[in-house]
Order: sequence, then C-alpha cells, then structure tokens
Amino acid sequence: MFENLKPQPADKILALVQMYREDPRDQKIDLGVGVYKNADGVTPVMRAVKAAEKRILEEQESKAYTGLAGDPAYADAMIGLILGTSVPRGNIAAVATPGGTGACRQAFELIRMANPSARVFVSNPTWPNHLSILNYLGMEMVPYRYFDGETRGVDFDGMMEDLKAAKAGDVVLLHGCCHNPTGANLNMVQWQEVVNLINERGLVAMIDIAYQGFGDGLEADAQAARLVASSVKECLIAASCSKNFGIYRERTGLLMAISDDAAQTALNQATLAFLNRQNYSFPPDHGARVVTTILNDDALRADWATELEDVRLSMLGLRQQLSDELQRLSGSDRFGFIAQHRGMFSRLGAAPELVEKLRDVHGIYMVGDSRLNIAGLNATTVPILAKAIVDVGV
Ligand code: LMR
Repeated sequence: MFENLKPQPADKILALVQMYREDPRDQKIDLGVGVYKNADGVTPVMRAVKAAEKRILEEQESKAYTGLAGDPAYADAMIGLILGTSVPRGNIAAVATPGGTGACRQAFELIRMANPSARVFVSNPTWPNHLSILNYLGMEMVPYRYFDGETRGVDFDGMMEDLKAAKAGDVVLLHGCCHNPTGANLNMVQWQEVVNLINERGLVAMIDIAYQGFGDGLEADAQAARLVASSVKECLIAASCSKNFGIYRERTGLLMAISDDAAQTALNQATLAFLNRQNYSFPPDHGARVVTTILNDDALRADWATELEDVRLSMLGLRQQLSDELQRLSGSDRFGFIAQHRGMFSRLGAAPELVEKLRDVHGIYMVGDSRLNIAGLNATTVPILAKAIVDVGV
C-alpha cells in the first residue's frame, strides 16, 4: 500500500522554516512564518498566559473529556472577544478547534456537507493553506482580485467585479483583519459594500480572523467581523488564538456558524460537534482553558490586552522605521505602503528572483511571494533589510 503514496507539495511557509534552520550564516534574518518575535528574537510566553497556566496547574482537578464542542465557557469568552454583543448568542453555534487551521478545515467541511456545489471565492492571494485544504477536500475555488501590484493596496474595484460572478450559495472567504499575506485591508465603507453584495446575491460569508489585536487594536480589528456577522443571513467565522495569545503550539481556535434564524442554531451546533467527533473527537483543551481564564478575569485580561497592545505598537514602529529607511536609501516614497499595511505581514510586491536573491546573497528569508513578517524584525535588522532590498533592486 505505502508504495502507492506520492510526494505531496511542500507547504511554502513551512519549507522556508526548514531552509532557514539549515542556513549556517550568523547574519541570517527570518521573516518567514507568522510568529511574533520580540527585539531579542524570542517568541515569549505572555505574562497573562503564564499566570493563567499557574492557576490551572494549581486548581484543575480533572482532565476528563470536555464536550465535543469544547468547554462552553471558552466559546462564550471568545464570542465576546470577537463579536461583542453584535449578534444574539442564540444565533451562534460554536466549537473549539485545534487552532485556526482546524477551524478553517471544519468550516470547509461544513460547507461541502451543506452545499456540495458551493464554490469558495478566495482572495488573490490568500493564506496558501486555505488553497491547500480546499484542494485536498476537492472543493472548487475561484480567486477574486485583491492585491493591487502597483499601489500595494487593495484592488477594490477588481474585487467587487470578480465577486459579482458568485452565484447564490457560493461562499466568500474574507480575512477579518490583517490580511495574510498582503497586509492590505478594506476600510469599513468597503466592508459595507461587500456586505451589500453578499446580501444582494445570496452568498455565504466566511471570515478567517487570526490576528485580532495586531492591526488597529482589539476592538477596531473586530469591526468588520461584527458588521458582517450582524448583517448577513449566514456566516462562518474561523478564529485563532495562536498569535494574539502567543499560544501557537497549544492549537487553540474556534469555529462559529451564525444564522439570522435562531431556530437553525441547534442543528448547526450539532453538526459542528459531529464534525469534531469525526475528525478528532474532543478539541484540545489546555490553550482554550488558558484563554478562558484570561478573558474571564479582569486583571489578567487587562494585562494581556496591555502586552498585546505593546506588541502591536512595536510592530507599527518597525513598519514606520522600515518605510523611512527605504525612503532614505532609495530616494523615493514608493515604500510608504509598508507603514500603511496592518498586521504581521506586508507583501513587498517583488519578483520571485529578487526574493531568492535576498535569501541567497543576504541571508534574508521571506516567503516566495515577497511576504515579509514584520514581527521578525528589530531596530538593528531593519536597516540591514532596507539596504538589501535596495541593493537587489526591488
Ligand atoms: C503564517 O501564515 O505564517 C502562519 O499562519 C503560520 C502558518 O501556519 O502558516
């Protein structure tokens, strides 16, 4: 049997992690995988996470199974964080999942189950694993224009034109904030236009929100998800706690299925629980418990929000520094978009050969589509990167 196996395509982001590890050069800089690093290059355990873990260690009496949906208190806390009070709780079905990837996978499976002929409209570009999972599940996807290679902003006219090709029942996958990989985002007026189009055409909205708190702040980053969830008939939201709680390896995510008809919620909830059972039974609990402990304790929540805000501001500072340095070295303001982008990533818009040159000649690792992880930089490496970008002729 095993001899029938065929090599699968390597994940572009994870392959880069391996290449970076194997590079013996001391001066190498890792701007690949989306992991936050502080100025010392460390991905720290957040203070509130440490405190919550201590509390759990002392107080937890049992590790018996939770429910198939995970601990309901986790879903409640996360729904509050993402949606506030924008949608009545009775309209929301939710399950804990292994990370945001698990949430996306379950969402896609639910779509396939409910409407096998649904096509999923994906931004061009999007997180490569969206495409990989959809492809693996045999689902049809249709790219819509998103990134404007000239301005490095959103090609909103192109996006709307392409979305007009969607038919009733098709799904539109949107990044709730901090678009990955481009860093270019819609404004709220544009979000409203997308919502109008979704409603006019009878489309289903799916939001992937993995970087809440990394863009314009915890509340601001949730505005689009709140607008969509409270305005459309049906919506799926896949959320991740990996980045904003810094608990990457704990695999902590949430999938919500929201209907404007509360009578639908029980069936949605049972279906999500069924999907969990088929794929892994009970979702992981430790990260979810840490998140619940933090969100439900005023002092821990405030400390977490402060630390996250510091991270956000430091990334904004790095964006500004890089943009200024590039302006100084290139004598042009064509890199101003880096300061305008939001979240962990910016897409430089450089050709693959230049990305390769940055890696081979300068030891600077970014994903082949020229996505760079701003959080992989610090005040010392920004000028090195800026010089290399200008040297290779981006
Ligand atoms: C990324 O885009 O780098 C992150 O979401 C990590 C991953 O799993 O790809």
